[in-house]
Amino acid sequence: MKAVRIHSLGGTGVLTLEETPRPEPADGQVLIKVRAAGVNPVDCKTRSGKFQRPDMALPMTLGRDIAGVVEGVGRGVTGIKPGDEVYAYLDAHGGGYAEYALAEEGETAPKPASLDDIHAAAVPLAATTAWQALFDHGHLQPGQRVLIHGAAGGVGHYAVQFAKVHGATVVATGRSEDRELLESLGADEVIDYRKDRFDERVHDVDLVVDLIGGETQARSWACLKDGGTLISTLEQPSEEKAAEHHAHAEYMSAGPKAEQLQEIARLIDDGKVKVVIEETFPLSEVRQAHETLERKHTQGKIVLTV
Ligand SMILES: NC(=O)c1ccc[n+]([C@@H]2O[C@H](COP(=O)([O-])OP(=O)(O)OC[C@H]3O[C@@H](n4cnc5c(N)ncnc54)[C@H](OP(=O)(O)O)[C@@H]3O)[C@@H](O)[C@H]2O)c1
Repeated sequence: MKAVRIHSLGGTGVLTLEETPRPEPADGQVLIKVRAAGVNPVDCKTRSGKFQRPDMALPMTLGRDIAGVVEGVGRGVTGIKPGDEVYAYLDAHGGGYAEYALAEEGETAPKPASLDDIHAAAVPLAATTAWQALFDHGHLQPGQRVLIHGAAGGVGHYAVQFAKVHGATVVATGRSEDRELLESLGADEVIDYRKDRFDERVHDVDLVVDLIGGETQARSWACLKDGGTLISTLEQPSEEKAAEHHAHAEYMSAGPKAEQLQEIARLIDDGKVKVVIEETFPLSEVRQAHETLERKHTQGKIVLTV
């Protein structure tokens, strides 16, 4: 089968489309014929070496998000059968940029029925991260106010929608050109991070979802109400600042949960959450896909068609 692998860490030049053996599902695993694979910043960081985990080894096939049809299942898989149309959030083992990929049953759920494969592949990692940031870590309650940084991106555009569906008021940071999109997704206030200082305009929010880190995170303390919560997908917040604001503040690392994929699929099929796609590329143009995500302004997701 064809797969995009890396044999060394580096720029987009290390991404190589090559022939590799088709994998076989072990116990508890699902073999998926991939029709589309989402591209995430973590793929670029894995490629360049910025993101590393002990269970990763070279050569490796990148790709954490897939949509496709089940080709076979290993022993012990009970909820999924060949022929099912599914989507999956693959943990750090990756393997999604390929014609066939293995997923654990716990990483896999029925594809939202209302979506085609391209849109379905744009959902798992980003939407799950948004869900876990808002609810598992941020404990967002209806009626609360949340500030979402990087709201027009992959994770952010889901976070805006989930927070609204949950009955929260959403303040979103992005560019002026993102305003229309963000308002259409439900943002109550949009702040252009390049023109306005959000920390001078936003105060007393219950929750900050920081998808940017650095100075953006540092300036966010001024927006948080005393006793509020700051969740970052990028870096560990300052313990001193958290104590000063009596805040709960943490760095989170998202992970796949099939039941959350099912819940997210329900919201999508109910028409409550939209999937925004910036651009699609064939698998053979994976280098351009990474370059686009790393260098250009993107709204929503980039997806590879397989
Ligand atoms: N810890 C975890 O488990 C986890 C999970 C998922 C994602 N992440 C990380 O979270 C980050 C966001 O992921 P993503 O998939 O949403 O990335 P993305 O699709 O690249 O979106 C990021 C968005 O933020 C915008 N942006 C950049 N600088 C900004 C600023 N200062 N203020 C407001 N918006 C700004 C970007 O647009 P412009 O730069 O063009 O303006 C883009 O729209 C990435 O670094 C990713 O690696 C971590």
